[in-house]
Amino acid sequence: MSETILTLTDVVVAFDALRAVDGVSLTVPRGQRRAIIGPNGAGKTTLFNAIAGAVPPTSGKIVFNGHDVTNLPPHRRAQLGISRTFQITNLFPTLTVQDNMILALRGLSQRKFSLFGKPDTDTTEAPRIAAALTAARIGERAGVIVKEMSYGEQRQLEIAISLVTTPTMLLLDEPAAGLSPSERSMVAEIIRSLDRDITVVLIEHDMDLALGLVDYVTCMFEGRVLVEEPPEGIRRNKQVQEVYLGKPRHA
Ligand SMILES: Nc1ncnc2c1ncn2[C@@H]1O[C@H](COP(=O)(O)OP(=O)(O)O)[C@@H](O)[C@H]1O
Ligand SMILES: [Mg+2]
Repeated sequence: MSETILTLTDVVVAFDALRAVDGVSLTVPRGQRRAIIGPNGAGKTTLFNAIAGAVPPTSGKIVFNGHDVTNLPPHRRAQLGISRTFQITNLFPTLTVQDNMILALRGLSQRKFSLFGKPDTDTTEAPRIAAALTAARIGERAGVIVKEMSYGEQRQLEIAISLVTTPTMLLLDEPAAGLSPSERSMVAEIIRSLDRDITVVLIEHDMDLALGLVDYVTCMFEGRVLVEEPPEGIRRNKQVQEVYLGKPRHA
C-alpha cells in the first residue's frame, strides 16, 4: 500500500467557453514518477497551473500531502512543498546562476531582496544552493551570467531552481523541450538521479523520453484523462496512438 501525495477530484479549469481541463481526477502516490503526456492543447500545462495555484480551478478539489490546496495561492502551495518549472525559460538573464538561485530561495521565505545590492548567501543558503546546482549538473557554473550559458544549461538551471526549495513534489513542464539529443539525455539523467523521496510529475510530449523515466503515465486529450497505465502498455494503446497521430475521435 502506498501513501497518496496528490489527489485531484473532478478538476475543471474553464477559460470562458473553453474547458482547458475538463473534469480531471487522478491520484499520485508519494515518490512516484508520473508522466502526463498528450498532444498540444490537451490541457497539460493548465493542469499544472491548477496544481501549483497559477490558475484557480473553476470547480473540483485538489489535495496535496493531506492539505486541501484548492483555493490556496501559489506561495502557500510552494511552502507546502509543491515546486514547478515552466515550459518557457523563466530566468533573470543578466544575473549570475548563483543570484538566480538566491532569488528563488528567498522568494519562498519572503525575505526582502534588492537586485541592485550584492547578494550574499547566509550559512544555511549556500549548501542548499550548491546541492541543487550539483543535482542539476551545473555545480561548476555558479558564477556564470545566465545569458552566457547554452539553452540546455539554462534548462538545467531551472531544474536547480525548482530543487533549491527542497520540494516534496516537483512539476516539470517539458524540461527537455527545444534541446539537442545530448542535452535531452542530460536532462533525463538529472531526473533519473533525483532523490526517490521527491514525487515527480513530468509533462513531456516526446513519448520516448517520458516512458524511459516514469513508473506510470496519464495521457490527456481535450482536457480529459484519456488513458492511465504503466509505460509498457502506453505505446501499444490504440487510443493513445490515435491522439498522437492526430486522428479524429469517434463517439
Ligand atoms: N490563460 C489562458 N486563456 C485562454 N485559453 C488558454 C489559457 N491557457 C491555456 N489555454 C487554452 O487551453 C487549452 C489547453 O492548453 P494547455 O494547457 O497549454 O495545453 P498543453 O500544455 O497540453 O499543450 C488550449 O486550447 C489553450 O489555448
Ligand atoms: Mg504545455
